[in-house]
Amino acid sequence: MSTALFINVLMSVCAYVATVRLIPTLKDMFLKANLFGIDMNKKEKHKVPEALGVATGCSFLVALFLFIPVPFWGYILDDEKFPHDQFVEFVAALLSICCMLLLGFADDVLDLRWRHKLLLPTIASLPLLMVYYVNYNSTTVVVPLPLRHWLGYAVNVGFLYYIYMGMLAVFCTNAINILAGINGLEVGQSVVIAASIAIFNLLELRGPLRDNHEFSLFFILPYLATSLALLKFNWYPSQVFVGDTFCYFSGMTFAVVGILSHFSKTMLLFFIPQVFNFIYSVPQLFRLVPCPRHRMPRLNTSTGLLEMSKATAKKGEIHPLGRLCLRLFSLFRLAYVKEGDEGDVEVNNLTLINLLLYWRGPTHEEALTKILMMVQVVGTLVAFAIRYPLAALFYDL
Ligand code: UD1
Ligand code: MG
Repeated sequence: MSTALFINVLMSVCAYVATVRLIPTLKDMFLKANLFGIDMNKKEKHKVPEALGVATGCSFLVALFLFIPVPFWGYILDDEKFPHDQFVEFVAALLSICCMLLLGFADDVLDLRWRHKLLLPTIASLPLLMVYYVNYNSTTVVVPLPLRHWLGYAVNVGFLYYIYMGMLAVFCTNAINILAGINGLEVGQSVVIAASIAIFNLLELRGPLRDNHEFSLFFILPYLATSLALLKFNWYPSQVFVGDTFCYFSGMTFAVVGILSHFSKTMLLFFIPQVFNFIYSVPQLFRLVPCPRHRMPRLNTSTGLLEMSKATAKKGEIHPLGRLCLRLFSLFRLAYVKEGDEGDVEVNNLTLINLLLYWRGPTHEEALTKILMMVQVVGTLVAFAIRYPLAALFYDL
């Protein structure tokens, strides 16, 4: 392990301890500032401080600000040529993450609309794209073996590659935010994704792209440490909510390391449950099927268990494409769809959480979060199975 990585690990441990202490102090301050949400799946409607992701985000940033000189001091001491390109990459990555944290907090305080949720990550990713342009501007993609006969070894996709990177940031931020609504889930899934990225980086440290993977670890380890501290307070029964601040901050951190360390495709593989949840949600996100403000499961107060939540509409009000989706979903038992006598249609809200409840029946909130985390871990195992043995079939690694 390099000295810089060792110092990063020590700093991450300190960041964990600092965050664990910081959150209880901030809790009351947030309540006083009217930053709270109601835990909808509890019998008693307590006020729970909201947007505590800002606490982990700040500890993360402080840790990394202090860490900035560490990978570079060797060059200064030895009077070697200073790697300005790497330095600017590091600082731009922090700028994008910092910007996303600010915009996420603005969303929590101001409750922004859906279109802003797409715009904010795009704007925050601009410093990142700019530094990518200056440092690499490599927009060629290696073509998978079966297609090489037609397309050649590599294709230069040019500007499209920048669109892809911008969309990656939008996807990562929102995909975590819409797989949410039960205690511990937002942080839980992010912790599993971060741990998966860290394991992948550690495995690749011995490979030819060592520097890239070390760069990623510099960000992911403090992220993991501060998020674990948040999970301690956000786990069932939640003492704090993480807010959109945390979802945006996490998504951006993942996008930053994926892009700058050049493993964005592998990184997306760690998002398998989120990709599924997003595709499954599309009919509601694009309003082909009615979409209520909250799609989280519903508490049955007599049993204390969570049940799937449903959206209802008159059949005529549902878009023909939406009706087609629902017919397909119900054919494959992928959704609960019930048509009433008076032309009413009842459908479960289209999220992975409700789908699990449809298949399993009523479940306790904590058990449901654990199941979803297990699904995430299985997703990671599938990702590694695809990345290592199967990638060799498609690319000559
Ligand atoms: C997203 C989801 C929404 C889901 C919500 C839950 C989409 C399009 N949007 O909206 O369906 O209901 O996240 O976070 O899929 N809350 C709890 N328990 C929890 C976490 C949150 O009751 O464990 C409630 C609290 O009242 C909290 C609120 O959810 O204040 C936060 O919701 P917010 O993050 O603002 O919702 P969105 O991200 O817009
Ligand atoms: Mg949210």
